[in-house]
Amino acid sequence: MTENAEYIKSISNLLVARYPNGARAYIRTYGCQQNVSDGEKMKGFALQMGYTLTDSADDADFVLYNTCAVRENAEDRVFGNLGALKHNKEKNPGMIIAICGCMVQQEHIAQKIKQSYPHVDLIFGTHLLGEFPRLVFEVLSNAKRVLDLSEQQTDIPENLPVKREGTLKAWIPIMYGCDNFCTYCIVPYVRGREKSRKSEHIVKEFTELVHQGYKEITLLGQNVNSYGKGLEENITFPQLLDKLATIPGDFRIRFMTSHPKDATHELIDVMQKHDKICKHFHLPVQCGSDEILKRMNRHYDTTQYLELIDYARSKMPDISFTSDIIVGFPGETRKDFEGTLELIKRVEYDSLYTFIYSPRVGTIAASMPDPISAQEKSAWFRELLDVQNKIGPKRLKKYEGNTYRVLVESKAKEDGCVTGRTDTNMVVNIPGGEELIGQFVTVKIKHARNCALDGELVIGAAGK
Ligand code: SAH
Ligand code: SF4
Ligand code: F3S
Repeated sequence: MTENAEYIKSISNLLVARYPNGARAYIRTYGCQQNVSDGEKMKGFALQMGYTLTDSADDADFVLYNTCAVRENAEDRVFGNLGALKHNKEKNPGMIIAICGCMVQQEHIAQKIKQSYPHVDLIFGTHLLGEFPRLVFEVLSNAKRVLDLSEQQTDIPENLPVKREGTLKAWIPIMYGCDNFCTYCIVPYVRGREKSRKSEHIVKEFTELVHQGYKEITLLGQNVNSYGKGLEENITFPQLLDKLATIPGDFRIRFMTSHPKDATHELIDVMQKHDKICKHFHLPVQCGSDEILKRMNRHYDTTQYLELIDYARSKMPDISFTSDIIVGFPGETRKDFEGTLELIKRVEYDSLYTFIYSPRVGTIAASMPDPISAQEKSAWFRELLDVQNKIGPKRLKKYEGNTYRVLVESKAKEDGCVTGRTDTNMVVNIPGGEELIGQFVTVKIKHARNCALDGELVIGAAGK
């Protein structure tokens, strides 16, 4: 038996003795899809240990917060929820409260939790996913607090159990960590250096998901374009995509996130080559000022960025672009900000994820002079949203009258309707029954709303 299997067996015996009516675990993930993917693995482990999963911390014997550190508000929410758990523990003193993920990988946060939140039993970092059973066993068996932030030097653990959120869409991490050190970003500090999974492991997991009936598989990494770096095999991200897209079956592929400095024409050519690769490109630009991009350590300028966009549009005219934007980076001027407005008008993104700069302890930008007031940053932020709120609906209008292939995902809010997405990731509502859920259907778009489309089923036609 492997070490993990032994721990799982011991935990399961302990739980049976301690909780004759069954033990419940509440595992809550904050942050990006990669964190969600880690959370799915911890859920998989928890099920093997004998826990049943619950949706509420109030009736749980084991609560785990899998946290994010990317902005301050993500952390504040966790501190609030963690404080509230004190009452749960008073009612149920045997319960275990655990916290893991990017937030606690920062030493100052781990120490704060250790000192100010004595009801927290287990604190562990992002490198210990594969050792989750050992950590849970140590807390359960010793009734002692455990703090472990060690960084594993071994290979990426493979074949961990996983409890996926859905039956239609699945996410596969292809690489972990980040080497880019954008000056505002905490991720490289809390997730460590980039490590790619061997392609044979990815192909195996991918093929299994296709056989299980998953219809949309998203490849994950902080910078998927640098996939392959450090592997013994000679493989690039476009080559991996090419390989996965030739696997037989009825499915489509997405990927995120692409760093513009590593996005190549070769990648765009592979996207164009395969119908199975969604024509959606999330290409975070962060800012439209070359000076700020330099200080962000992004290694591209707006000219290079726009060249990529133009190349992709010349190959795939209907491709959808989305982006992340940071407003109020230290030292950003009104003129820099206007560069961002200009750029988003030029590109016409389908949607944007917009953030006000949040200083992160230990990053380079956190010690840069930042003279612009919070009020002014908020005003710029609203201005940015106003501009994008005109672009988004304008882009959607272009869908009217055309037919598209839509993956139906769930029931819509409106009675008698279902909702799905085009491969450009646009939400489409269509009249139809639940039997359509999980199917690719062809839909003619009748009407574009502000952020979704209304369409109707077309029988016997192929959509874009
Ligand atoms: N690796 C991805 C995403 C990283 S985090 C990438 O490079 O695009 C997701 C987004 O959060 C980033 O793209 C950035 O826009 C935002 N972000 C990261 N750190 C931030 C900070 N300190 N303040 C505000 N936004 C931040
Ligand atoms: Fe952060 Fe930059 Fe890495 Fe993205 S590429 S995770 S923004 S350091
Ligand atoms: Fe947050 Fe960590 Fe993801 S900081 S964005 S959960 S990698």
